[in-house]
Amino acid sequence: MPDAIEKTHLRFSQLECSSDEQLHYLFHELSELAAQEAEAPPTPETAQKFRVRWLGRQDSVISRITANWLKEAPPEAKKWVGQQLNWLRPILEDLASQSKKIAEAAALEAAAARDQIDLSLPGVTRPLGTQHLVRQTYEEMYRIFTSIGFSVVEGPEIETAYYNFEALNIPEHHPARDNMDTFYIANAPGYLLRTHTSPMQARTMEKQQPPVRIVVPGKVYRRDNPDATHSFVFHQLEGLAVDTDITFCDFKGTIEYFAKEFFGPQTRVRLRPSYFPFTEPSAEFDASCHVCDGKGCRTCKHSGWIEMFGAGMVNPAVYGFVNYDPKRYSGFAFGLGVDRLAMLKYGIDDLQQFFRNDVRFLSQFP
Ligand code: DAH
Repeated sequence: MPDAIEKTHLRFSQLECSSDEQLHYLFHELSELAAQEAEAPPTPETAQKFRVRWLGRQDSVISRITANWLKEAPPEAKKWVGQQLNWLRPILEDLASQSKKIAEAAALEAAAARDQIDLSLPGVTRPLGTQHLVRQTYEEMYRIFTSIGFSVVEGPEIETAYYNFEALNIPEHHPARDNMDTFYIANAPGYLLRTHTSPMQARTMEKQQPPVRIVVPGKVYRRDNPDATHSFVFHQLEGLAVDTDITFCDFKGTIEYFAKEFFGPQTRVRLRPSYFPFTEPSAEFDASCHVCDGKGCRTCKHSGWIEMFGAGMVNPAVYGFVNYDPKRYSGFAFGLGVDRLAMLKYGIDDLQQFFRNDVRFLSQFP
């Protein structure tokens, strides 16, 4: 049995419809089919299709009823068909505009949901970096030295041989000048990457009369192959204090103060004789091991002591380069390896960690 929609393709005579009532059923069936079809949640496209299929100008249910039934019906039946058609049309119009409305509202809602900003959601957190451990160590050293009257000055990383060596009483033939140790700048004769921060001693004293109390942070460069304790670039903090009556006691007291502040109040220091051309006498400072308190452990290689840095009373020969009167002035100097002291303090066993920029390492020191 063809359904009511299929029947709209037939001519009125083929319907074999002999009464008003039969026609009524037919139209009723059509209205039910239309309502069923309109039931599914519409999209703007299906709503449009519904209108075209039921109410469109060409080949829609209504246009076929008009052409096949109304026009073809014998005069007495025309009235019935006309009445039923007038009953069905507004029902279909309602269904079509209803579908369209629902579809548009749903589309608007979906768009709004897409664009909506939910203010209760947590924001996007941009991770904040921290200071590099070398920087943190510098800051700690500045705190200690500025608290006893030192100021922080910086110098150039590209230095002249004069300030890097000569003015520090390191003569021409000294092995430190060998190009196995020093990076010379190929197309700038006489220039090199500073091998230590000591050149700022002479640079500062040339410009300034005593009292001088400075610390000099900075990168220094040597031709070392990278391993757990060597790098071709590393960090130093130079210290220099010169005044009219600075004694060896001031020297030792200052270093001891630094060691206690840096490694903890229980720290003891000891001096071993050493040699640097720019200090006389020269010393290596050791601190009692902050890990085992001098009992002996892996950090101090079971000696109870850790080597801190080189230092000494300023060699009077150095004053000769900066026109200070060596009879009037005396002072002391020291050169800290910042990476080395950070490694000792924080228990780091590989110097290269400082230069790898591995966040897994760096984030352990917030
Ligand atoms: N400049 C030396 C170096 O790089 C370290 C040093 C030792 C600096 C003794 C000083 C000092 O000022 O007195 O190995």
